[in-house]
Amino acid sequence: MHRSVLIVFAHPSLKKSRTGRILAESASGLDGVVIHDLYESYPEGDVDVERERELLLAHDIVILQHPFYWYSIPPLLKEWIDLVLGFGWAYGPGGDALRDKSLLSALTCGGGLEAYTRKGQNRYTVREFLAPVEQTGRLCGMEWLGPFVVHGTLKLTETEIRQHAVDYRRLIEALRDDRFDAGRAAKLTHINADVDAVIRED
Ligand SMILES: Cc1cc2nc3c(=O)[nH]c(=O)nc-3n(C[C@H](O)[C@H](O)[C@H](O)COP(=O)(O)O)c2cc1C
Repeated sequence: MHRSVLIVFAHPSLKKSRTGRILAESASGLDGVVIHDLYESYPEGDVDVERERELLLAHDIVILQHPFYWYSIPPLLKEWIDLVLGFGWAYGPGGDALRDKSLLSALTCGGGLEAYTRKGQNRYTVREFLAPVEQTGRLCGMEWLGPFVVHGTLKLTETEIRQHAVDYRRLIEALRDDRFDAGRAAKLTHINADVDAVIRED
């Protein structure tokens, strides 16, 4: 085990969740991995900035896990970014708290992969829609590792969701154990387009 992982989990309606819940369950209980549920911690939306900064400082890799809402992140995750990644702390003069940490997104979305292509209904890939998240990380000196995306959630069977959950867990273990090939991942539309290619089994 080389690097600690913080999963910042934001699901506005976890009770109704099929996919995100199973992904989060699959990632729980791993050594060196902490899952931090924002909607559970802050049902009133009152984010504790000091607590969140301590959590970030204590980890090397940050995963933002959430359902895709209107091509973007849910509102409490946006609030968290707005409040926690402050000027002089995360960016700007003296703002180097997150420098050299790694950032990735893990999201579930209703639309299928074909809908997220130039000729598809949504015209852009999920990776492209996540440009604000990527650039937020870069501004804070973080390495952007790309997105893990589960497409077409409504049509997925329980077995298919569980397979995605296995991939997610393998990815997190590889990140933690420094067996993740960032160069290969950068070439994929989403990391789990070929999860075997980005994980070294050494
Ligand atoms: C308010 C809202 C906005 C959504 N926006 C999108 C969207 O922009 N693109 C998309 O593919 N799916 C969208 N969806 C579908 C969710 O992403 C999908 O239901 C969720 O990821 C499924 O995961 P879960 O089983 O954990 O809830 C939206 C759902 C809601 C409720």
